[in-house]
Amino acid sequence: MNYNDGIEIVVADTSHEKYVDTILETITASAKKRGSGIATRTHEYLTTKMRERKAIIALSGPEKEFAGFCYIESWGNKEYVANSGLIVVEKFRNHHLATRIKEAAFTLSRLRWPNAKLFGLTSQAAVMKINTRLGYVPVTFEQLTHDDAFWAGCGTPEDPHCINCDVLARTGRKYCVCTAMLYDPADHVGEPLPVEFPPEVVEMARQFAEAEMKSKK
Ligand SMILES: CC(C)(COP(=O)(O)OP(=O)(O)OC[C@H]1O[C@@H](n2cnc3c(N)ncnc32)[C@H](O)[C@@H]1OP(=O)(O)O)[C@@H](O)C(=O)NCCC(=O)NCCS
Repeated sequence: MNYNDGIEIVVADTSHEKYVDTILETITASAKKRGSGIATRTHEYLTTKMRERKAIIALSGPEKEFAGFCYIESWGNKEYVANSGLIVVEKFRNHHLATRIKEAAFTLSRLRWPNAKLFGLTSQAAVMKINTRLGYVPVTFEQLTHDDAFWAGCGTPEDPHCINCDVLARTGRKYCVCTAMLYDPADHVGEPLPVEFPPEVVEMARQFAEAEMKSKK
């Protein structure tokens, strides 16, 4: 779909590091307002994501005003990839911007880790809708990565990153407030990717995927 609203959605790089403070402030303010959980991230973490080209950023108009963000990471020996930290600035919501950001994150994930299962945790109806359209299905937590480093992102009751992490701890990571959703590439062989990236991004992702493949052998 062509939205024609002057919002560009790109794979972030070092030139976007200047937006990190704004992104973090937007995520924190939104989590406070909702009284709900979004796993908080540090400045360094998001900067690294941009340097590694594992983030999607949406910028509006000629002033390139920050409009939205999301990042990706692999877990469990690269068998799983999660899209996390999705945020759309309030005034840009309800214009399918999260849809466009998630489609870009999905495409980037599929290009970089073609064999990985993609997953996400969410309590948002909008995100469940978007994920479903991308081919994700709801699953139990048991079917997600068991990588401790991923779950550390939710925090612990002693050092919470999400306000619900006491539930996660109490149930031994079996249940929480979020719905788990999983995309298994084996169920979608030959399906086209939702976004066409510029050739330099496709090449960057291809080289990365090739290097990952070699390092796994
Ligand atoms: C959740 C969020 C990212 C959605 O952003 P958005 O750009 O408004 O979402 P979209 O416009 O792409 O909406 C996708 C679909 O969900 C629907 N939707 C949007 N907000 C919704 C809501 N609050 N409840 C139910 N459905 C909703 C839209 O109508 C759209 O459906 P359609 O395609 O059938 O028209 C945004 O509200 C946000 O940043 N919230 C705070 C942070 C957050 O919750 N992040 C997600 C963590 S997993």
